[in-house]
Order: sequence, then C-alpha cells, then structure tokens
Amino acid sequence: MKKTVFQGRSFLAEKDFSREELQYLIDFSEYLKDLKKRGIPHRYLEGKNIALLFEKTSTRTRAAFTTAAIDLGAHPEYLGKDDIQLGKKESVEDTAKVLGRMFDGIEFRGFSQKVVEQLAEFSSVPVWNGLTDQWHPTQMIADFLTVQENFGRLEGINMVYVGDGRNNVANSLLVTGAILGVNMRIVAPETLFPEANIIALAEGYAKVSGAEIMITDDVTKGVDGADVLYTDVWVSMGEEEKFEERITLLKPYQINMDMVKKTKNDNLIILHCLPAFHDTETVYGKQMAERFGVKEMEITDEVFRSQYARQFDQAENRMHSIKAIMAATLGNLFIPRV
Ligand code: CP
Ligand code: NVA
Repeated sequence: MKKTVFQGRSFLAEKDFSREELQYLIDFSEYLKDLKKRGIPHRYLEGKNIALLFEKTSTRTRAAFTTAAIDLGAHPEYLGKDDIQLGKKESVEDTAKVLGRMFDGIEFRGFSQKVVEQLAEFSSVPVWNGLTDQWHPTQMIADFLTVQENFGRLEGINMVYVGDGRNNVANSLLVTGAILGVNMRIVAPETLFPEANIIALAEGYAKVSGAEIMITDDVTKGVDGADVLYTDVWVSMGEEEKFEERITLLKPYQINMDMVKKTKNDNLIILHCLPAFHDTETVYGKQMAERFGVKEMEITDEVFRSQYARQFDQAENRMHSIKAIMAATLGNLFIPRV
C-alpha cells in the first residue's frame, strides 16, 4: 500500500513539517470547521483512545483536544500532573511504553521539549505537542488559519509579534511564518530577542519561501505596515517570578491604540494566543496593579475589544486545527501527497 504523508507521525515541532504539509493542515482545519458548522459528522477516530497529559495548566488546549477528540469519535482522557507518576515516580520512557499500549494517541503539555520527544520515541503512537517551553506548534495551525480566513492568503502577509521575543509562541511564529512565506518581524527589547539558533533556522526557511525576517527593538520601524499584530503574555508559565523585570522591559511594547496607529493599516488584525492581561479581572492582573500600578499589560482593554481584535476566532480555531492534526496523523486518511 502507498505510504500516506501524515499517518503515524507525531506533531512535536513545526520544523519537522514542510511548507506544503503545514499548509495542508491549515486547509484541512478550514474544511473540518465547515463540516462542523454544517453539522456533518467527521468521525475519523471512532473507537480510539486519546491521553491528554498536562504538566502545566490550560483552558484552550485542553478544551480543544477534548472537544475535537469527541467530535472525531474518540475518547479523551485527562491525566494531570498530580494524577500520574510521569517523571516523579516513573521514567518518561516507561510511562510512554505503558500509555502507548493503551492509548492510540497522546497529547503532552509541559516544560521540556525533550519529554515530548521521548514520549514520541517510546510510545509508538502519534504524540502531539500541546506546548513546551520551546514550541507551541498546535497553536500555529490555528493562528495561520485565522490569518488566512481574514486575508485569503498567507504569502507576503506582514506579521509582527511584539513582546517577549524568546518564548514558545514567538519561536513557533517566527519559524512557522518563515516556512509558510509570511514576512515575520519580532519587535522586542534586545535582551528578549529570540535565540540565535532560532533566528538562523527561520532565516534558512525564509530563503526558500521568500519570507522577509526582521528582528528589531524599534517599535515604530517594526510595526510599520503590519497586517497582523500579535502578542502574548510578558511572563510565561513557569517564570512567574519575572513579572517586575518584564513589566519594566516590555511597557514600550504594549499593543495600544498608539501602536495600532503606527501600523498605518486600517485592515490590520490583532491576534493573541490567550490568556491575556488586558484588565484587572484576574488574580495576577490585580496583584500587578497593586504592586506596579499597571492595569493592563501586553494589550490594552481598548484594543482587546476593538474592531481589529480576532483573538476569540483564533481561540475557536484551536479546536478545528487540533482536529485536523489528530485526524491527519491517526485517522487512516488517504493523503498520499500534499
Ligand atoms: N493558547 C493556549 O494555549 O491557551 P491555554 O494555555 O489556555 O491552553
Ligand atoms: N507563552 C505562554 C503561552 C500560553 C499559551 C506560556 O507559555 O505561558
């Protein structure tokens, strides 16, 4: 039988996939979204069992994997960090071997990229990376789907990420955009520029795709002509002690109406992977307001609720795209080439 492109593969990092493969996953997500809206069943994973491993907390990723699995006919099982032995009482290798005998696919969210790689190596079932300190690949399919829905294309779009330029989301955007032919800019203070090896990786892909890459600390120059402004939290999960330092460093990189004007683009859209600190309606939001007098962090409430904002479409797209990733890699679909 002909080998299919995706069956049995894990989704650990974007760099493991070609431009055509990533584009296929985006287009397949759009197709599955349409099926869902029209109430047409798409139970490609009937009878399958899916393990959802979470070392870090999650709203979207957990909810998206759960609902996507159920729509596909699979059974999702949540295994939180206090529920299983992973790494504490049992090695990742042994855990992977056990889970691989009971589950047909495994999602992992946690700290170390190495752990998700080991799960894939030793479980012999597809493993999907639901976020590590290094990458957030399932987020990317949803994000670029949202861009494609708004502009009808990806090639040549100017996507500007402002904020902490060395976190998982920034890394993933830079590399994925470069693969897909999206002009990628990272606008951040120099100390928060992406690591040199990530920039080099993106630049290599950009040469092939024709994407332009810009890494700058100059906000005016960086956001000029942006089609997409994207930001993420200033402090990622696991580095909560860094709030003070980051607030000082990143204040000039907040998405506010001044920055929106600087893009000089009325067709601008704004993305945020969420959760967002745009008001004081959260525990951390309140604490930061009391300690440092900041009521909004990476994005102002005004922009968050503005005509440009697409973050809730983007959040919904997590479900459609995770469905596409799981179905393509586990659903025995006939995809001989892309
Ligand atoms: N964007 C995202 O991954 O959200 P959660 O942390 O809620 O899963
Ligand atoms: N950079 C953020 C993304 C959350 C979805 C974090 O790792 O906490």
